[in-house]
Amino acid sequence: MIISRLILRNWKNFKELDVKLQERVILVGANASGKSNLLDVFKFLRDIAKPGGGLQKAVIDRGGITKIRSLAARKNPNVEIEIHLSEFGSDVVLWKYGIGIVQEPRGYRLPYLSYEKVWEGDQLIVNRPEEEDKKDIVRLTQTYLEQINTNKDFREVVRFFENTLYLHLVPQLLKYPSAFTGPDLPGDPFGKGFLERVAKVNEKTRKSFLRKIEQALKLAVPQLEHLEFATENGYPHIEAIYKHWRPGAGKQKEDQFSDGTLRLIGLLWALQEGDSLLLLEEPELSLNGAIVSKLAALIHRLQKPRKRQVIISTHSSDLLNDRGISLNEVVVLEPANEGTKACVASDIEEVKNMLKGGMTPASAILPRLKPKDINQLTLEF
Ligand SMILES: Nc1ncnc2c1ncn2[C@@H]1O[C@H](COP(=O)(O)OP(=O)(O)OP(=O)(O)O)[C@@H](O)[C@H]1O
Ligand SMILES: [Mg+2]
Repeated sequence: MIISRLILRNWKNFKELDVKLQERVILVGANASGKSNLLDVFKFLRDIAKPGGGLQKAVIDRGGITKIRSLAARKNPNVEIEIHLSEFGSDVVLWKYGIGIVQEPRGYRLPYLSYEKVWEGDQLIVNRPEEEDKKDIVRLTQTYLEQINTNKDFREVVRFFENTLYLHLVPQLLKYPSAFTGPDLPGDPFGKGFLERVAKVNEKTRKSFLRKIEQALKLAVPQLEHLEFATENGYPHIEAIYKHWRPGAGKQKEDQFSDGTLRLIGLLWALQEGDSLLLLEEPELSLNGAIVSKLAALIHRLQKPRKRQVIISTHSSDLLNDRGISLNEVVVLEPANEGTKACVASDIEEVKNMLKGGMTPASAILPRLKPKDINQLTLEF
């Protein structure tokens, strides 16, 4: 399944948002335009739906409702999220899930639901508050999404949300996990436990994933010859053999890999790892432009057999230069007075005409996102 439409009200820097999403989505916008905030909606739903999660924890983990609710919100204090789910490659809406969240005006000031609705096709199968909710208002501090005895009729939606994977791999965390103490983050977004994840996969699958990564890596890092998994004193490692003038001297472990090599390994692993929604935060980081220019096509090739949606945030013109990217796959975020405005690039007439005139998505879209006064940024500040 994929998320085919997202509607938000008062979510962080989005006062109002309503966008249609494709199987591959490329989110573009200036710094602080809300790309990460948008990805966080899907992580928020994951955090509600996953075992041990729930609405209260998902809100607390984000610093409370005042951090989530848009500063631009005035009269209507509801934070609202609505998601439409469709089959990969189809427009038919299979499910809709919507919640409104407010804060108790007094007392513990807990977040609670002003409503929770689930549609199966056109049929409304959950419509809260129900009579029971009105009798016992505390029930509204929990969603039906997070409770196994109430989500039976829409388990497919629960599974979809809870399996969402977010990747923003930080090479230093992967290289030196023991130097970064403290509790591990849910879902391991920064790749600290990446090697353990690799170790957990059964050997046959792991070998097949690594072979594919090796093939791609050989093109990006020509001196690399072979990639394999190894354990040393019980700790998992990835080893690479590089071409070297001295025989036997070219073997290296992950702590010697370049940042770009590690990020590419993490990205290619995640793309093969499952069939759930995959959120990629700025996958271009540390990578050579020539490789970045192939990422959109690579993602497309790997997501298709798995029927998997991939949502990518990016600043990269190399990534967007690919003429295989269709304008309805690009979501453009433009900050305005009352919060950021979002639209699909194919709805911008000017951009459409530029593409017809032979420009690439990058040259038609990115100049619009340049901050207005950026030319005043000089070395004399
Ligand atoms: N509750 C809120 N109401 C309004 N604005 C908010 C709220 N929470 C965060 N923001 C704003 O959102 C912006 C950050 O957005 P975000 O991190 O999603 O940007 P980004 O597009 O990912 O930027 P970058 O490209 O630099 O990573 C900040 O300017 C912050 O002030
Ligand atoms: Mg960001």
